[in-house]
Amino acid sequence: MSKMNTVRGFQVKPQIWYGIGSLKKLADFHFNKVCIVTDEGMVKFGLLDMVTDVLDEAGVTYHIFDDVKPNPTSDIVEKGVAHMLTQRPQALIALGGGSSIDTAKGIIYYTNNFKQIFLDPQLVQNPHFIAIPTTAGTGSEVTDYAVITDVDTGTKIPLSESMMMPDTAILDPTLIESVPAGATAATGMDVLTHAIEAYVSTGNNPFSRCYSSKATELVCKSLKACYDDGHDLESKASMQIASTMAGIAFNSAGLGMAHAIAHTIGAQYHLPHGLACAIALPYVIAYNGIDERAEYLYGRLLHALGIHKDEGRTASATFVRMIVKLMKSMDLPLCLDESRSDTSDYDEVRSTLIKKAMADATLKTNPVQPSEEDMGKILDLVCHGVF
Ligand SMILES: NC(=O)c1ccc[n+]([C@@H]2O[C@H](COP(=O)([O-])OP(=O)(O)OC[C@H]3O[C@@H](n4cnc5c(N)ncnc54)[C@H](O)[C@@H]3O)[C@@H](O)[C@H]2O)c1
Ligand SMILES: [Zn+2]
Repeated sequence: MSKMNTVRGFQVKPQIWYGIGSLKKLADFHFNKVCIVTDEGMVKFGLLDMVTDVLDEAGVTYHIFDDVKPNPTSDIVEKGVAHMLTQRPQALIALGGGSSIDTAKGIIYYTNNFKQIFLDPQLVQNPHFIAIPTTAGTGSEVTDYAVITDVDTGTKIPLSESMMMPDTAILDPTLIESVPAGATAATGMDVLTHAIEAYVSTGNNPFSRCYSSKATELVCKSLKACYDDGHDLESKASMQIASTMAGIAFNSAGLGMAHAIAHTIGAQYHLPHGLACAIALPYVIAYNGIDERAEYLYGRLLHALGIHKDEGRTASATFVRMIVKLMKSMDLPLCLDESRSDTSDYDEVRSTLIKKAMADATLKTNPVQPSEEDMGKILDLVCHGVF
């Protein structure tokens, strides 16, 4: 059946405030009591103070849950649920990178489930959810998706539920000024991975392609500038918008094999999410290029960026060369062996890694479904490199 005859949906949810000073919008809500979900880094870098200053001035009472750790685990979410049930805030503010926002989503989801045991489900109300990202980033401020790691098995569990979509997102570039260069590079590569994977995914649609392509353009224009000068707020604002746009795109279209591999190697080798995505992305694009439709879409995306295919190269190979060049310019490792990971157990865990990557939910929308053998070959390249 033609796609024209298929009814499909596309939803854009949060109210987005952006630009320098947008943090002050927090005062407009007139809440009495809020909970802030955040991590130690936000306290250390003075970002929590920037939020509490606005709340103090507006006379809002707040409680702080700052137990979030990178790549959030189920035990921290459980602690957060207890905090919510005790404090009963009108609003929940997630301040931080994807880890703080995903933890807040997990807290909302499990608090809601818990309340439904005792109350008529119709009566259960969630707090107003405000996401304030401090990385650019995961795009978690505009997705109804979260990744929580099961503390017992170490497996990353993707949760997807409309109640986890923030009601409001605030993108104030001053909040991402303090991100160190290495983290700017890694989180920026996460944005690029979201944008490109959503563009070629089997769930892509006219709306998602539009957001993906603009996000890719903004990353190509601004990421290196942010890496070179952490105080370049114009480029940082541009990356923040790219991150949000890529989030809107993949929330509708889905992701692909780079994320399936990133979740797997990230959990095994304790890598930051963006770095794991960056390492996987070139190998996945090179592999997806075998698929005619994916190759066509990489070509369309290049065209939208105003870039010509390299002489004698396919569109996917042109993308791979561009991405490898960008990664090298930001001193990012091109394989696990070049990263700080201890990969001495790779041969031992290889078959488990293949199984986990094959089972990851994000693989479902990859343009090509790999065999276990192909996945093993791609993982070998991700581990030992070729570029
Ligand atoms: N829900 C989604 O849609 C989605 C998408 C992609 C990734 N994720 C998840 O997001 C998490 C990764 O998030 P992330 O890459 O934003 O990093 P993060 O939230 O894990 O933060 C990493 C570190 O950077 C620090 N940091 C954050 N902002 C800073 C700032 N402005 N200045 C200085 N330091 C700062 C934090 O304190 C932390 O120590 C992973 O758990 C990943 O699975 C979620
Ligand atoms: Zn990601």
